Amino acid sequence: MSSLRIAVIGAGLAGISAATALNEANHMVTIFDKSRGSGGRMSSKRTEVGDLDLGAQYFTARDSHFRQLLQQWLDKGWVAEWTPRLFRFDQQGLHESADQQQRFVGTPRMSALSRHLIGDLRFQSQTRIAQVHRDDDNQWQLSDDVGAVHGPFDRIVVAVPAPQAVALLKQAPLLAQAAAQATMDAGWTLALAFEQSLPTPVEACFVRSGPLDWISRNSTKPGRGGRDTWVVQSTPGWAADHLDADHETIATHLQQALSEVLGLTLPSPASLHVHRWLYARPTDQCNWGALAAPELGIYVCGDWCLGGRLENAWLSGQQAAKTVQ
Ligand code: FAD
Ligand code: NAI
Repeated sequence: MSSLRIAVIGAGLAGISAATALNEANHMVTIFDKSRGSGGRMSSKRTEVGDLDLGAQYFTARDSHFRQLLQQWLDKGWVAEWTPRLFRFDQQGLHESADQQQRFVGTPRMSALSRHLIGDLRFQSQTRIAQVHRDDDNQWQLSDDVGAVHGPFDRIVVAVPAPQAVALLKQAPLLAQAAAQATMDAGWTLALAFEQSLPTPVEACFVRSGPLDWISRNSTKPGRGGRDTWVVQSTPGWAADHLDADHETIATHLQQALSEVLGLTLPSPASLHVHRWLYARPTDQCNWGALAAPELGIYVCGDWCLGGRLENAWLSGQQAAKTVQ
């Protein structure tokens, strides 16, 4: 196939996966993202108390191709294994819950992996694509939210969460319909730093009920450095009930829940950060892989096409790239 000009909208792991595969196939790829950096929900915040992973906490690797790739990332030092002392919390209380599952994190923060993967691909950040349309020559033109037009492109890959994809798929009604069906749940994240280490052996904990879904002692991940930092994430149900609450209310509730799980009175944190994810995870698992309207030259990928995990986002991007013709 001759070299095509391809726009990828979204620099999360799915978009990066599609972009790198298309670049390897000798196409001319430009990635657009509305944010300042890349990584999407694999996001981290750099702070004076250390790097905090606010989105994806770790990833697992089950697919054999993905495992091979993971080995390359490990060899390059882009990711490292994280072996926290793992607990679960249920009606019987807090229990150690060690397992054999290997878990990996980007180093020195989750989002760093996305920077490595993008490498020298053309990446246009802080560009929110508001709409896409085909011009008289059947080429794609992308308009951003400040009125600038980017193009022409022969093909486009839409790699944004389903609810945000709908607006970009107006010219491919069947794809828009599929994206509109794929609802996504919200989530709240609270990150805390303490002057003194909390007196607990817990380094990670599955809770999965009430306000709390997951607790992670962020500072135990390789390379994070800094103070004793913690990241807690809410369940989707609790987030739905508190979607419009202010950050102070969220911080109070989640600290209270953390205190109950750990069985500790928490000291005042040295710093605190609250983040709301409007589209944290797909409500339901589905098995689409990727979506395509080849007659229009438009392709779609993202975790919502395969299940809300980093590995699935990567695999969805690979599948979208494979179908580009
Ligand atoms: P995204 O990462 O959402 O990327 C989409 C990108 O598109 C974003 O960068 C966004 O800025 C951009 N964008 C959107 N609209 C536009 C537009 N109009 N124009 C330009 N750019 C646009 N997975 C795991 O495997 N393990 C975990 O522990 C884990 N924990 C998680 C915890 C939280 C709080 C969240 C939110 C997710 C977690 N996940 C986890 C899921 C994982 O983060 C996602 O599955 C994965 O990051 C999705 O990648 P993606 O590329 O499909 O989408
Ligand atoms: P995984 O294999 O570690 O976990 C899979 C599931 O098995 C977990 O959800 C957990 O409920 C259970 N589990 C695994 N090990 C356990 C243990 N030792 N003790 C008790 N329960 C255990 O990871 P996988 O499959 O890669 O999933 C990714 C993670 O990303 C999950 O934890 C998922 O909930 C999380 N996620 C969080 C999102 C959010 O918005 N907070 C969004 C998408 C994914």
